[in-house]
Amino acid sequence: MKRKPTWLLAMSIGLLLLPMADARQKPQFPEELVKLMEEVQERFKPLQDAARFSKAKFETDAKHEELAQHATRMAELMKQTTKFAPEKDLPDKPKKEWNETCENSAKYALELAAAARKKDYSAYRKAFKSMDAACTRCHDVFR
Ligand code: HEC
Repeated sequence: MKRKPTWLLAMSIGLLLLPMADARQKPQFPEELVKLMEEVQERFKPLQDAARFSKAKFETDAKHEELAQHATRMAELMKQTTKFAPEKDLPDKPKKEWNETCENSAKYALELAAAARKKDYSAYRKAFKSMDAACTRCHDVFR
């Protein structure tokens, strides 16, 4: 009797498992969340630029009202992000963490908006740093 080459069998199994391994490494997120994060990214950019200004440049050149609007919208986007909490409550990816990072980034985004309107450089930088930490925290845990 002719034996089937083992390598062929091994290769077929490998090919079958490959997409599964890939899916496990990269968590899939709903299209709506990906779109949401794209707007988040657009709003984030000018807010970050302004946080890197010198005090004098921030006070004179920053477009405070525009920054306030980006930050207010950011808070809204962060509230919307809450809806996409993972269905499974896993020990290393707890739902609570998702909700808390959304709430925190929304809260600091509102503080950022207020600081921009007051043209308060140190409050602006402080709120930006706290907001950014909340963004990073969620990415570290869930992405
Ligand atoms: C509650 C969790 C959570 C919070 C809070 C959060 N994000 Fe995200 N973010 C995600 C997830 C999940 C993805 C991956 C989705 C995807 O593939 O785009 C993502 C993707 C992104 C991307 C796309 C990156 C890429 O690979 O192209 C950017 C930019 C981004 N987030 C910025 C931010 C900023 C800025 C904040 C804070 C203002 C923030 N995020 C807050 C969960 C979060």
